[in-house]
Amino acid sequence: MGKLYVFDHPLIQHKLTYIRDKKTGTKEFREIVDELAALMAFEITRNLPLEEVEVETPVSIAKSNVLAGKKLGIIPILRAGLGMVDGILKLIPTAKVGHVGLYRDPETLQPVEYYVKLPSDINERELIVVDPMLATGGSAIEAIHSLKKRGAVNIKFMCIIAAPEGIEALQKAHDDVEIYVAGLDEKLNEKGYIVPGLGDAGDRLFGTK
Ligand code: URA
Repeated sequence: MGKLYVFDHPLIQHKLTYIRDKKTGTKEFREIVDELAALMAFEITRNLPLEEVEVETPVSIAKSNVLAGKKLGIIPILRAGLGMVDGILKLIPTAKVGHVGLYRDPETLQPVEYYVKLPSDINERELIVVDPMLATGGSAIEAIHSLKKRGAVNIKFMCIIAAPEGIEALQKAHDDVEIYVAGLDEKLNEKGYIVPGLGDAGDRLFGTK
């Protein structure tokens, strides 16, 4: 079963409270999502492998560490996932960014892929799929399926708020994918919104509705 990690860092929990608040407007909401994504990226990368190199300081030679191993890729699920990309890139500016767009078929209610553009070497990258909300899990499951179909083998999923239903479905569909969340909420309501959640993340990020 894919492991679940809940980010308990006080700064993450504090900022989460502000984006839950319905009085938080678009500008502030977008800024906080950006900050949260950066803080979450800081946490998710804490076990990246290092290798020792020598660097010449103004005083002498230092043995010091740089990142080793796999390169990273960020995969936002359109549209709301876009809100998390810049925050992650602030910490990992060399990461490549791929996009997966899905819509829900009105008859089958299943997610259908309409846009996929990925780095050519996704099979060599450690991929972080991002979407602020994990509700039923349908989009995340399909997006990850889409990546695996194209050769991805090393995938993590990171969201801000998750419903238990989404976690369970994602763990069942992709048991090799670790899931990282800032808030684990109570449930989904009859309209598919996470309760208590924060409403529609895409609308709140982009000021639509
Ligand atoms: N997507 C959202 O943006 N919000 C929810 O509560 C559920 C899915």
